[in-house]
Amino acid sequence: MLQFTSTPPSLSQASTLAIPVCEDADIHADPEILELIARAKAIEEFSGEKDQQIIFYDRVKDALRRRLLIGVGPRKTITAETLRRFAGRAIQQAMRAKSTTIAIAAPTAESLDIQAPIMCNALFEGACLANHAFTRYKDKPKQNLLKGIAVLVPNETAKKYKALPARIETICQGTLLARDWVNTPANDKLPEHLAKAFESAARQSGLHVKILDQAQLKRQKFNALLAVAAGSAHAPRLVEMVYAPPKPERTIVLVGKGVTFDTGGLNIKPSAGLQTMKGDMAGAAAVAGAMTALARIKPKQRVIGITPIVENMPSGSATRPGDIITSYAGKTVEIGNTDAEGRLILADALAYAIKTHKPDIIIDLATLTGACVVALGEKMAGVFSADDDLAAAIVAAGETTFERCWRMPLLEDYKELLKSDLADISNMPNTRYGGAITAALFLSEFTIGARWAHIDIAGPAASKKGNGYCAPGGTGFGVRLLCELLTRL
Ligand code: BES
Ligand code: MN
Ligand code: ZN
Repeated sequence: MLQFTSTPPSLSQASTLAIPVCEDADIHADPEILELIARAKAIEEFSGEKDQQIIFYDRVKDALRRRLLIGVGPRKTITAETLRRFAGRAIQQAMRAKSTTIAIAAPTAESLDIQAPIMCNALFEGACLANHAFTRYKDKPKQNLLKGIAVLVPNETAKKYKALPARIETICQGTLLARDWVNTPANDKLPEHLAKAFESAARQSGLHVKILDQAQLKRQKFNALLAVAAGSAHAPRLVEMVYAPPKPERTIVLVGKGVTFDTGGLNIKPSAGLQTMKGDMAGAAAVAGAMTALARIKPKQRVIGITPIVENMPSGSATRPGDIITSYAGKTVEIGNTDAEGRLILADALAYAIKTHKPDIIIDLATLTGACVVALGEKMAGVFSADDDLAAAIVAAGETTFERCWRMPLLEDYKELLKSDLADISNMPNTRYGGAITAALFLSEFTIGARWAHIDIAGPAASKKGNGYCAPGGTGFGVRLLCELLTRL
């Protein structure tokens, strides 16, 4: 679906040609495109200011040709993210116009301070991610998706980076899967169903999959995970997806929090807090989405995705505040608050992963704390790791994909906030301050000795407003990040 093209605009079959227009510089070289830009800029209301837009219609041999010009602002402000959003908007416009194919004119590499592959990557990514709608519950889906997306570049560029479009499409498909899973209502993703959905996507991409059901989880003493699941009428699962190349240099484990709905349990959330809690499995969705992509882009490391999946409900069988359980790792945990459930299922999944797979690196993604959203806002994830190199690699990967990550501290002395009078540790800190840190410190007690990082995605996992290349709802945050990260580890 994604491809390069070097066909001149006048000969192109694409029903829409999209052109990014810079406000204060020439960023194109093709004479036909320069002429269209000159025509547009001659019109008073169009100057190339960010998000301005103009469409020219021509008939070529009875076929309608749209030339869509979108402003991207002053040259100095144009980043890869500007191009992602431009491409996304172009796709949205083309869909509205019922276009079936689009060609996107790439700026010349020399005109911007962005390297050619990064620029093409951004255009493909923005376009591919925008060309999607979650219409499972609509009788008549309004959107008609584009069948072909081409980025117009000189022949040499197309040749040099010919592997790029397929790779990006694969990663974007993983991202879109994650978005759909997050958007699916909780009644249609009970743990059993979500596990099956992960399994089927993972199998299709060639991964080995193992699902632990409730009986197996009981036998293997995943008691912290089971304590969270105890109030639900729907049994938990743990999904393990394995990508194993012939001679792997390293083993990397990815763990994702999969709470299909977080009511808070007996410490039930207030109405406003419940509203978005079908998305509390976004970490698991990101891991499963990334695994399906990794299986196809074939990194050199062995990668294992592990997703504990539960529903956190209050009921007569629910775990009570004050209950004490013995976790998979053997540490006893006092359940100070049943709404701090993510760290419980992750504690068991992390301990299991480390014991079973002896990873060189283990990374978890989780919508873990409201406190992280308070700290960093809704568009940035918090990264916690004692390992400077690993934290830096995650932050750098996030800068590349615009899934922004900020390193947060793991303050050892805050561990005393998790002391329990009766058990080895409490899941509830005795202050609400520093909640993202104490949550990460809780997890650190179950990853001792491992090279581990925790990414709190409670903010960016979903978005009320969306942006040029993401509809409101699940964002798929983490999928592109993990795929990028794997090239750096
Ligand atoms: N799933 C929530 C965290 C969350 C909040 C995600 C808002 C997305 C948006 C998590 O399980 C939770 O409830 N955390 C509590 C922890 C507290 C009880 C220690 C929180 O953040 O308030
Ligand atoms: Mn909770
Ligand atoms: Zn939760």
